[in-house]
Amino acid sequence: MDLTELNRIATAMVVSGKGILAADESSGTIKKRFDAIGVESTEENRRDYREMLFRSKDAMSQYISGVILYDETIWQDARDGTPLIRLIEQSGAIPGIKVDEGTQALPMCPGELVTIGLDKLAERLKKYHERGARFAKWRAVIDIGSGIPSTTAISVNAHALARYAALCQAAQIVPIVEPEVLMDGDHDIDRCYEVTSRVLNKTFEELRVQRVALEGMVLKPNMAISGKKCAKQASVEEVAEKTIRLLKACVPAAVPGIAFLSGGQSDEEATAHLNAMHRLGALPWGLTFSYGRALQAAPQKAWSGKAENIAAGQRAFSHRARMNGLASKGEWQSSLEQKAA
Ligand code: 13P
Repeated sequence: MDLTELNRIATAMVVSGKGILAADESSGTIKKRFDAIGVESTEENRRDYREMLFRSKDAMSQYISGVILYDETIWQDARDGTPLIRLIEQSGAIPGIKVDEGTQALPMCPGELVTIGLDKLAERLKKYHERGARFAKWRAVIDIGSGIPSTTAISVNAHALARYAALCQAAQIVPIVEPEVLMDGDHDIDRCYEVTSRVLNKTFEELRVQRVALEGMVLKPNMAISGKKCAKQASVEEVAEKTIRLLKACVPAAVPGIAFLSGGQSDEEATAHLNAMHRLGALPWGLTFSYGRALQAAPQKAWSGKAENIAAGQRAFSHRARMNGLASKGEWQSSLEQKAA
């Protein structure tokens, strides 16, 4: 393992002013997104859609540090025959790959999930590295509800995340470690804080036990935020203040960077929260976005599967990428949103 090189890549992924485009929706998830805009989820449509994003030259070169791909996409060619992964490299962004294989019910723990995909992972990582992937992603899912999460669910998911991260580093790939605490419930921000704190502490404990080099990874956490169905929604300032307090308490300074998931926040909320965190002062790690929905909802709608809308889709994507790029430096203002509309 060349840790200097892993650290160089991890640092580039979270460089100030840029963030990560999570374009790694599984076939099931992208179908849901396409259903919402009335587009059939064919291999060609998925290719055309992602090609539109990766050919958004300004956005990709100025605001996107890396792109997380799904297995289908990393082997796919653009319409002119150029591999899609080469378009990403040509823009200056780093290609990455989702390597988990989704979730399964966790036995003995009703309502809880464990992420799978460790079998043959070493072989898969080798092929992805040869193809050009320089980082990977594995997402664990922790739900908050009555009596959950259990210690068991937190523990087995942390163990799997660390197993994945160690295998990545051995294959010279930077692991994005993503323990996502869902925001779907009616819990308040303090319950989210408490659960996320347990999850992060257990995850870093497992990373240490399994000898993962913290200097060669990126953490992808949720923010400390109110559940979507909670009657009392925390303000932007409270989310920013509690998230930074939580991360400072749980994430060692040896970690080069943190890149948030958007998790169901609105586009503008995801931007405003990241921006507010940067207004709180200097931080021990890089802090940016690794958004899926909050970067793509607008371009998906603008495109709607029509070739004549590609320029509009790229404009919508460039706008969100720029807004989040500014937020990663604390330089975003809500008035910039209106101007573009
Ligand atoms: P969202 O930003 O849509 O939550 O997706 C990010 C991601 O990669 C989840 O694994």
